Amino acid sequence: MGTVVLHNIEKWYGQTLACTNINLHIEDGQFFTFLGPSGCGKTTLLRLIAGFIRPDSGSIILNDVNITSLEPEKRNVGMVFQNYALFPFMTVIENIEYGLKVQKRSTSQIKEKAERYLSMVGLEGLGGRPVSQLSGGEQQRVALARSLAIEPKVLLLDEPLSNLDARLRDNMRSELKRLQTQLGITTIFVTHDQTEALTMSDQLAVFNEGKSIQTGTPEEIYQKPKDSFVAQFIGETNLLSLHSCDNENDSLLINSILAGIHNDTGRFISIRPQAIRISAESADCDHSFAGVVENKRYNGLTTELSVRVDNLLFRSIRLNSESEHYTPSVGQNVFVNFSANDLHILER
Ligand SMILES: Nc1ncnc2c1ncn2[C@@H]1O[C@H](COP(=O)(O)OP(=O)(O)O)[C@@H](O)[C@H]1O
Ligand SMILES: [Mg+2]
Repeated sequence: MGTVVLHNIEKWYGQTLACTNINLHIEDGQFFTFLGPSGCGKTTLLRLIAGFIRPDSGSIILNDVNITSLEPEKRNVGMVFQNYALFPFMTVIENIEYGLKVQKRSTSQIKEKAERYLSMVGLEGLGGRPVSQLSGGEQQRVALARSLAIEPKVLLLDEPLSNLDARLRDNMRSELKRLQTQLGITTIFVTHDQTEALTMSDQLAVFNEGKSIQTGTPEEIYQKPKDSFVAQFIGETNLLSLHSCDNENDSLLINSILAGIHNDTGRFISIRPQAIRISAESADCDHSFAGVVENKRYNGLTTELSVRVDNLLFRSIRLNSESEHYTPSVGQNVFVNFSANDLHILER
């Protein structure tokens, strides 16, 4: 079992601040995701938890023990690196056995565990193959088996799926999640991919510029983003700025949207594209504006329309299977409709 608490963590590389003011609580058995754009400090945090680097301040607690200064091999934490970092001159089974040898397990235990985790990741029969002769997906599995074999209290995964092609990535997502659930191992998963984060996580923390901006379940983060960064990073959204209405038309439009909403501190309005309905005639709903279709994108499952209303562009997404689905052409005059319930006011 493994409960991880990060308390006020800060880390600098010379003049570069990698992360600051990080306070997170990762429960035993959770699948917890660090989500954020490149450079926001995700790998740094994993390396701090694994013990490869030390924080400048703050503490890391594993199962109520302060491990901030403990050597990596004494932490019982397994890590899968972004580039897998397999030992290229070793076979598959030698790679998996490596951590067990470091742990000085008995020969019979090493053999038994290496075989067990080899088959758990679906590589039975490939033990004797040099890792240099494996596909990317197979190398990924070896890296995972190598980390799992030491039966760590916490598994750290640094963008483990980012080097795989789309279909394989999709399969590995489900497989990884299934393995994690089956083993019940506390897992910290790093990704910049919102779909991965939303589909796999029990909890996720959204990072930007070295800070954890918001923590919650996928539903909480998607439905109640705390600020405009989170709203834009998790899922698509229409973001209307309330304070940069230089253009008179924008102000009129935004004032009309704002009429009836009592909020003095809001800086942005966010409307998800699936909440916006496009119609030929003005619809009977809270907000309905005349506009012109500027762009249309057919994706098989959905159609996306971008409709210009004065200086604002509204994006709408509809499932193509919907029976009353209306698909105007580019250049057509239409109405943009949404209900007041679908407006989210964000303070920054
Ligand atoms: N070894 C290092 N030396 C100097 N700067 C680094 C080093 N590692 C990371 N950084 C910097 O720290 C910040 C966070 O990096 P990183 O944790 O790798 O982000 P992420 O994994 O989210 O892409 C970035 O600005 C990066 O350039
Ligand atoms: Mg990284």
